[in-house]
Amino acid sequence: MASSSILVLMLSMLVVASGGNFNQDFDITWGDGRAKILNNGQLLTLSLDKASGSGFQSRNEYLFGKIDMQLKLVSGNSAGTVTAYYLSSQGSAHDEIDFEFLGNLSGDPYILHTNVFSQGKGNREQQFYLWFDPTADFHTYSILWNPQLIIFSVDGTPIRQFKNLESKGVAYPKNQPMRIYSSLWNADDWATRGGLVKTDWSQAPFTASYRNFNANACVWSSGSSSCSKNSSSTTSNAWLYQELDSSSQEKLKWVQKNYMIYNYCTDTKRFPQGLPPECTATNNS
Ligand SMILES: *[C@@H]1O[C@H](CO)[C@@H](O)[C@H](O)[C@H]1NC(C)=O
Ligand SMILES: *[C@@H]1O[C@H](CO)[C@@H](O)[C@H](O)[C@H]1NC(C)=O
Repeated sequence: MASSSILVLMLSMLVVASGGNFNQDFDITWGDGRAKILNNGQLLTLSLDKASGSGFQSRNEYLFGKIDMQLKLVSGNSAGTVTAYYLSSQGSAHDEIDFEFLGNLSGDPYILHTNVFSQGKGNREQQFYLWFDPTADFHTYSILWNPQLIIFSVDGTPIRQFKNLESKGVAYPKNQPMRIYSSLWNADDWATRGGLVKTDWSQAPFTASYRNFNANACVWSSGSSSCSKNSSSTTSNAWLYQELDSSSQEKLKWVQKNYMIYNYCTDTKRFPQGLPPECTATNNS
C-alpha cells in the first residue's frame, strides 16, 4: 500500500473511531457526586440512593454509528431500580433508541426493555430475559444504527432489529443527531412486576458499572457529519452498510423464540385498530 493511502486510512479512522476514555468522551450530568469516573477514565460507576440517582451523557452527537458499551448491572436485590442506556436526539419530535434494564429481587431475572422512537413516536416496546446473570460480570450491549436498520445486540448476539420502512410510511431516525445517555434511577412505581415490588432502600447505594466504550460512528459537529468526508477506507465504515447475515438471523430467531417476553407487534389488544405498519411489513417483529 502506498504511504499516502496509509495516511488517508489513518486519518479517516481517527475521524470515526473513538475508543474508551470516559474522561474524554462523556460528561457526568447529574447525581451530585454519585456518578464517578475511575481508573484514569477506564471505568464509570453510577449510583442510586434514596435521595437521588445519577447519570452521564456523551460529549459527541452522532448521526449513525456502531456503539458498544460494557455494563455490569446492580446486583443483589435491585427491584425497583432502572438502568437506562440509550441514544436520543433533542426536541419534541425526537428520535431515540433505548435499552432499559429493570431490576428484580435477588435471583429473579432482570428484564431488558427496548424501544425505538422516530420523530417523537415510540410505543414499540420489546422485552427480553437474558441468558446470563447481567450482575455477575460485564457484558457488551451494542447499537448498530445505519441508514438501513437498527440492530440491538447483546455480546454480539442480535436481539432486535428495526428496519428502515420509510417506503411503508414509517418514519426512520436518520436526520437528527443523537447523544448517548445513561442513568440509574428509582422507578418502583412501575419497573418490577408492574410496580408491585418496591425498592428496598436498606440495600442502597445501588451501583451499576460501565467500561470499554467503543464508538465507530459518524460524529456530528457544526451541522456536518464526519462521515460525509469522502474516505477511501471502506473497511472502517463497513458498519454503515451492515445487515444481518443468515447466521445472525438464526441467532435473532433463537433469542426471540426463547427469551422475548413482550412484543408490541403481537399485542393485538393494545392496537385494536390494527398493528403498526412496521409489524406487518417485514421481519421487524
Ligand atoms: C422479576 O421476577 C419475576 C418472577 O420471576 C418475573 O415475573 C419478572 O418478569 C421479573 N422481572 C421484573 C423486572 O419484574
Ligand atoms: C467517494 O469517492 C469515490 C472515488 O473517487 C467515488 O466513486 C464515490 O462516489 C465517492 N462517494 C461519495 C459519498 O462521495
